[in-house]
Amino acid sequence: MIALEGIDGSGKSTQAGLLSEALRARGREVVATREPGGTPLGERLRDVLLTAEPGGIGALAEAHLFAAARAELVETVIRPALDDGKWVVTDRFLDSSLAYQGQARGLGVDAVLALNAAVAERCVADLALVIDTPLEVAAARRCAGPDRIEAEGDGFQQRVADGYRELARRFPERVRLVAADGDPQSTHRAVLAEVDALA
Ligand code: TYD
Repeated sequence: MIALEGIDGSGKSTQAGLLSEALRARGREVVATREPGGTPLGERLRDVLLTAEPGGIGALAEAHLFAAARAELVETVIRPALDDGKWVVTDRFLDSSLAYQGQARGLGVDAVLALNAAVAERCVADLALVIDTPLEVAAARRCAGPDRIEAEGDGFQQRVADGYRELARRFPERVRLVAADGDPQSTHRAVLAEVDALA
C-alpha cells in the first residue's frame, strides 16, 4: 500500500495517477483511491469537511471526521483489496491527518495517532511518499476557488509542509520526502525509485 501525500497543490494526485498506471503496466492489480472520499460515506464527509463555513468545524471534530472517512475506506475498500493480494495506491492517508490536524492545527501528532489507533491496527501504508513541492509552486496551482482548508492560506500550508518534514524525520522507515521541481515526469521517476526500493 502506497500513500501519496503533500500540501494542497503539491501535485500528489497527478503522481498517484502516474504511479497507478506504472504499476498496472507492470502487471500489478491496483486499487486507486483517495481521502477523504473513496466510499459513499467518505464522499459525503468530504463535502461536509470542505464546504463548511470558515470556523464551522473545530480541530478535534475535524480530526474525527477525517478518521471516520478513513475507517470506512479501510473497512470497505483498502483491507479487502490488500487481503486479495492487490496493490493499493491512495491519494492521502493517515499522514495527512498527522500533518494537517496534528501539526498545522496544533492537536499534536500523538493525539491524532491515538484517535486513529483502531484504523492503524487494521492497516498502515507501507510507504507514504510526500511530494515536496516548493510552497510558491503549490500556491500558484491552488488559485482557482479555494475550499475551506485551502482558504487557511500560506502560513497554514507552511505549517503542513513542516509537519510532513517532521513526520519524515520521526518515521524514516515509512515516510519519505520526494523532491518535486514542478516537472511531473521527473517526480514520477523519483516516486518509482522509492517504490522499487521497497519491493
Ligand atoms: P485533497 O483531496 O488533496 O484536495 P483537492 O481535491 O482539492 O486536491 O484533500 C482535501 C483537503 O483535506 C486537503 O486540504 C487536505 C485535507 N485533509 C486533512 O486536513 N486531513 C486529512 O486527514 C485528510 C485526508 C485531508
